[in-house]
Amino acid sequence: MTQQLEHETAADPRAADSGANATQVFRNKQGQATSVDPQRVDEVATAALEALWGVIREKQVTYAEYDALKSWLISVGEDGEWPLFLDVWIEHEIEQVANAARPGSKGTIEGPYYVPGAPELAAEATLPMRDDEVGRPFLFQGQVRSVDGTPLAGATVDIWHADDAGYYAQFAPGIPEWNLRGRITTDAEGRFKIHTIQPAPYQIPTDGSCGKLIAAADWHAWRPAHLHLKVSAPGHELVTTQLYFDGGQYLDTDIASAVKPELVLQPTPRADGAEGEEVTYDFELAPAQA
Ligand code: DHB
Ligand code: FE
Repeated sequence: MTQQLEHETAADPRAADSGANATQVFRNKQGQATSVDPQRVDEVATAALEALWGVIREKQVTYAEYDALKSWLISVGEDGEWPLFLDVWIEHEIEQVANAARPGSKGTIEGPYYVPGAPELAAEATLPMRDDEVGRPFLFQGQVRSVDGTPLAGATVDIWHADDAGYYAQFAPGIPEWNLRGRITTDAEGRFKIHTIQPAPYQIPTDGSCGKLIAAADWHAWRPAHLHLKVSAPGHELVTTQLYFDGGQYLDTDIASAVKPELVLQPTPRADGAEGEEVTYDFELAPAQA
């Protein structure tokens, strides 16, 4: 269930809104519950608990701190912020393990705000955006190839990103459903050309339990500005990734630990004199595992 609240004008998303939507989107994606082999549950759950007991001993955690943790964990559930918590503080390590051996373009975390089924667009397209969309024009172009260099015609570049205020359509009120989301199909040479605007850095909602943890620990709540992408082609492994902007704020201190040097774009002023920046970034996909 995605809510479209176009009557709301104040762009003041609450953690509970984005949390509830992120939870629903995850449930839709997951479909039937994944079953994990009991032996594997035993192995991983035991190791996880032992790691935690180690922290308790090492840090001499008190009953007052244990109660604070209990109360906080309960509120994460009440706020619907489990998807946000997990994708900010856990997913990066899962992604590293999952894709360590995969050749081709680097991936990084998906995060909680991907929605399948975005509008299908031609190889050169402007992402759906409001008539008065604020933000610096940005041209993102490139080619999708197999790791052996073969261009991949008909590949899909599924892109989603925040607006100039750092908000995502379907997770903040007042933004049209598919704003700054689209699925581009590459041309005969595997090329794509996407006209959009530059997103702003993203701040984890500060009014929910994840925000409370950040405040209590005196961390900052920001992710650097980023584009999210899922790049796929028949017979190849899908790459889920993000691209960042050289010189952007929070690149070195991403709260979600999801920046990699290979993923930092270096845009330049538009060569044709049009307003804004452009960048070329090519993707290389690994052949699917047999
Ligand atoms: C979160 C948000 C993002 O935009 C992202 O890329 C990763 C994580 C989050 O709020 O959990
Ligand atoms: Fe994001």
